Amino acid sequence: MTKGKTFSDLSKTNYLLILTTNKYIYRINTKCMTKITLNNKIKTQSHVLLITEKFNNEFELPEKVNDYIVNALNDKDKKTLSYNYIGKYISIIIVDKSKEETQLNEQLRRHGATVADAINAHKGKEIYIYNQTNAPHLSLAAAEGIALANYQFIKHKPSAAKQKNTLESIIIANTKIDTEKISELNIVVDATLKARDLVNEPVNVLNATALANSFKHMGKEAGFDVEIYNKKKIQQLKMGGILAVNAGSVDEPTFTIMEYKPKGAVNKHPYVLVGKGVVYDTGGLSLKPTPNSMDLMKCDMAGAAAVGCAMYAIAKAKLKVHVVALVPATDNRPGFNAFAPGDVITMMDGSTVEMLNSDAEGRMILADALHFAKKYKPELVIDMATLTGAAAAAIGTFGMVGMGTADKKQKEKIIQSGLNVHERIAEFPFWDDYSDLMKSDIADQKNIGGPAAGSITAGKFLQKFTDYPYYHLDIAGPAFLSAKDNYKTKGGTGYGVRFFFELMKNV
Ligand code: BES
Ligand code: MN
Ligand code: ZN
Repeated sequence: MTKGKTFSDLSKTNYLLILTTNKYIYRINTKCMTKITLNNKIKTQSHVLLITEKFNNEFELPEKVNDYIVNALNDKDKKTLSYNYIGKYISIIIVDKSKEETQLNEQLRRHGATVADAINAHKGKEIYIYNQTNAPHLSLAAAEGIALANYQFIKHKPSAAKQKNTLESIIIANTKIDTEKISELNIVVDATLKARDLVNEPVNVLNATALANSFKHMGKEAGFDVEIYNKKKIQQLKMGGILAVNAGSVDEPTFTIMEYKPKGAVNKHPYVLVGKGVVYDTGGLSLKPTPNSMDLMKCDMAGAAAVGCAMYAIAKAKLKVHVVALVPATDNRPGFNAFAPGDVITMMDGSTVEMLNSDAEGRMILADALHFAKKYKPELVIDMATLTGAAAAAIGTFGMVGMGTADKKQKEKIIQSGLNVHERIAEFPFWDDYSDLMKSDIADQKNIGGPAAGSITAGKFLQKFTDYPYYHLDIAGPAFLSAKDNYKTKGGTGYGVRFFFELMKNV
């Protein structure tokens, strides 16, 4: 908005988009809505988020309100202000445009989370985002933060009907944004929330077969192929790692292959995404102690959710990129014929593994998937997995641990995509020395290293099953939160969906 304009003037512009949040509905409204002036509309209906570089007296706010805001924002360090009047709500965020774009976007996403909470506390249904800066991406980032923060997982809690969030629509009042960007944001938010749903679903609802079927549905809806291998097929293919982990389970394992191959794809060979689909990890016979670590282990398919839901977003947004996603899935239990520490397993690639710890199961199922990926002669393979407590111990919940053999250019894109969506990667060394720690006396490898460098030794184990540029992402830290962190709600975060989507946009 140019200097000298008032909110009333702004209200005469067209309002673009309705971004719906927790309802998975998508609608665009480019028509001018009811005439809005701040004096009028805010008093009577609207909740507003104002993004600006400097708040000033140009607005037609009631004098008292205006004075209060100007006064409060006089403090140089005060960058945000929320004000309630007559049951309505205005939130102002002052941005410093000299900051980096990635930082600003994250600042807006986080502020969006605060706004979502406030609107819901007010039982509001919609929020208007006014952006006075010349950076339309800030509106998108704010909308993203609001939408992601508005997520709830209450389907198994009928008594929570009253706690249901009321916010339904986010209206970006900024005609400079094209509809494609809006639609893309709707898609990627939707996909992220879908991933959260999958992660939050317990294993008695979502076993390996149900997980595979949910991908099948997504494929139908978004337009990508999904093939599901059952136990018999997995046996025929001699996927020894998957079968070993599944041996103590009553439920069958699955191996899901998703493929999206649009006409005019920019890549010759596919990008392959591999996701760890351990629908529940008890540790197997090397049982985890409960309640400390087992309680959260329904989240052990968060990598699978990320790659499957990323496929959903990629296909729905019709990105021009050929992508394959592979998900080996099973639960890890100590029942029946469970594999015993000391067992030697022959993997799909013919190599052998001495399984010294049944709780190091993720790498066993991923190994077969990584071997399977060779047949695509892929441009690059990235796996995502809640693989090691060591990764979480090293960097906490604030990012993922990454390592691999991808070339320099690929790594740059990977790292930058992480920064763009604030799903950041802390890159660990991938020196060959670490492979020595996985040597076994009686097999080609063992499945655990020593006490040191646990997430790297896991990565080195996996590398043995690759013959292509490879990158490994360990999301054990950020996949599942025990407390809300801004727009990442408690429980499953949907981590990785936004990252993969961003990366596939940039390749
Ligand atoms: N699923 C766990 C890792 C995990 C831990 C995920 C915490 C999310 C939060 C994995 O299967 C596991 O148990 N890893 C072991 C490996 C060890 C036995 C070498 C671990 O990290 O302790
Ligand atoms: Mn485990
Ligand atoms: Zn696990």
